Amino acid sequence: MEKNIHPIFERMQSRADKERQLRQRGLAVWFTGLSGSGKSTIAVELERKLAKEGYLCRILDGDNIRHGINADLGFSEEARRENIRRIAEICKLFVDTGIVTLAAFVSPTRELRELARGIIGGGDFFEVHVATPIEECERRDVKGLYAKARRGEIPDFTGISAPFEEPESPSSRMDTTGRTAEACAEELFQQIKPIITYQ
Ligand code: ADX
Repeated sequence: MEKNIHPIFERMQSRADKERQLRQRGLAVWFTGLSGSGKSTIAVELERKLAKEGYLCRILDGDNIRHGINADLGFSEEARRENIRRIAEICKLFVDTGIVTLAAFVSPTRELRELARGIIGGGDFFEVHVATPIEECERRDVKGLYAKARRGEIPDFTGISAPFEEPESPSSRMDTTGRTAEACAEELFQQIKPIITYQ
């Protein structure tokens, strides 16, 4: 602990206090997968479902974080590490407030996801591999980035010129090909419900 820093944790309301107030348990649902795999779309559907069932939820995703707190970061290995480190710290603050936090980031390597898991804590980390094959992500190409990456206009593009390592044993895995985001979100909701239910 740094000198001259005096934590006030003992005087603050605890996570248990917050969870009692909200009548729910905090959890990080960490989506990993290629760009265009469906991470954010499923997160939006899951948030809708959670809200309907009375759960307080927060989405963190690449587009809002990279335009705000991480606007200074690019896509080198080092920048991605700092991106994920900051996101995991933010995620932890939300989880410690008792909020169901949906983090949708490519987080392409095992090392990056282990970093996030270490910061958030294994018991609060529910890893979802959105395993849509690259051919399908590229066919969708919602943001036109695969076409640009193929033309060599985006260096270090995940799946084309930078690696994506599949998680070995995620808490959940889903391929969105031919499925609606709503169906994927419903499946996930059933999986996390026992964890976030207050009793
Ligand atoms: S991460 O690798 O650091 O976890 P993050 O999820 O924040 O990535 O951002 C990924 C999003 O940024 C992609 O969905 C895509 O829209 C955009 N992007 C821009 N350049 C790249 C790149 N080189 N590799 C991957 N995604 C990129």
